[in-house]
Amino acid sequence: MLSVKALYTEYASEHGTVVKAAQNVAFEVPEGKLFTLLGPSGCGKTTTLRSIAGLERPVSGEIEVAGRAVYSSSRGIFVAPNKRNFGMVFQSYAIWPHMNVFQNVAFPLEVRKLARREIADKVMRVLAAVQLGHLVDREATKLSGGQQQRLALARALVMEPQLLLLDEPLSNLDAKLRDAMRTELKRLQREFNLTTVYVTHDQTEALALSHEIAVMNDGFIVQIGTPRQIYEQPSNQFVADFVGQTNFIGGTVTAVDEPAGRCRVMTALGELKAHAADGVVRDAAVVVSVRPEDVELSEQEPTPEADDNIVRTTVHAKDFLGEYLDFQVRVGDVVLQARAHSSLRTPTGDPIFVRMRAAKCVAIRTNTAPPASLASQQ
Ligand SMILES: Nc1ncnc2c1ncn2[C@@H]1O[C@H](COP(=O)(O)OP(=O)(O)O)[C@@H](O)[C@H]1O
Ligand SMILES: [Mg+2]
Repeated sequence: MLSVKALYTEYASEHGTVVKAAQNVAFEVPEGKLFTLLGPSGCGKTTTLRSIAGLERPVSGEIEVAGRAVYSSSRGIFVAPNKRNFGMVFQSYAIWPHMNVFQNVAFPLEVRKLARREIADKVMRVLAAVQLGHLVDREATKLSGGQQQRLALARALVMEPQLLLLDEPLSNLDAKLRDAMRTELKRLQREFNLTTVYVTHDQTEALALSHEIAVMNDGFIVQIGTPRQIYEQPSNQFVADFVGQTNFIGGTVTAVDEPAGRCRVMTALGELKAHAADGVVRDAAVVVSVRPEDVELSEQEPTPEADDNIVRTTVHAKDFLGEYLDFQVRVGDVVLQARAHSSLRTPTGDPIFVRMRAAKCVAIRTNTAPPASLASQQ
């Protein structure tokens, strides 16, 4: 449905230098899917979205929607934004304050000179979908934050856009409302099969909403995958670190079993069995990334299964957080974060066993050597 190829967009900064805001950006969004651009502030998400909308003019690349080029540097095509039939909602959703709810949604249709009856039908249908049907006469400014956001969404949807572009649409809402709106948005997107590009810096939103996620850093897409792939099999250290919490254990690859996608890594915890990310070869410097919830703790030494890494450690610190405990366990200078059930009572300073399944340990190439403290213990 949407295809973006080799997109490059830059800005001239006030000092006369060039900001390379989005570089070699490429992805495809199938019809009816929600695709998220996720990354820290300034990584190029909005630039990419605005380039798709036609609000920025890229330097080069290709953008096609349903087989039709809306931008192509090679063929000299640039379709004006108002000719692209995309719906957009921004973080600062501009509702028209002097209009009521009905008028806000009807306005874009009136501009297109649709019949009054048709306008009323379309507006009421969309307002019902976003659950504002009972507030048609309310002044837009008298709506709550969440209602205003739904109004902005209704206004984008009423045009029956081919493509919906959402730029951090929930970030102005308070936490509770944000969760509720996230669920609502997901329901609408799935129900109406809206092909959507969603921009956020919030990993929870991205994981919860998306069919696929592109993680961006410094203008580049650094990984594309399903939420599960991004979380469980990060292909580089940036993704592992940015999405969720993780432990990094530095080491050197001692063996690679390519067909199985596995490797062994010598670390300060001993030799660990791990899933091998792309580019992991023998003797490479890597970090093994393992999530706190995959560091399983027990007081009794577990009976190892084929795929287990078992390490004897010491309880270094722990925090009671109600539904679970955050443990820090230590081997030499290496401290691991582990998440445990709150029934585990092992006191600080006592020995404790760690089990990490190989499938949950991901060896990722680093360009830097492991810290000296780790290297010296090998
Ligand atoms: N209009 C602009 N003029 C100059 N630089 C810009 C402009 N818009 C964005 N940038 C720069 O481009 C980079 C990417 O910005 P942006 O796409 O807004 O990132 P994000 O949405 O991921 O926070 C940043 O370095 C930002 O400062
Ligand atoms: Mg932005």
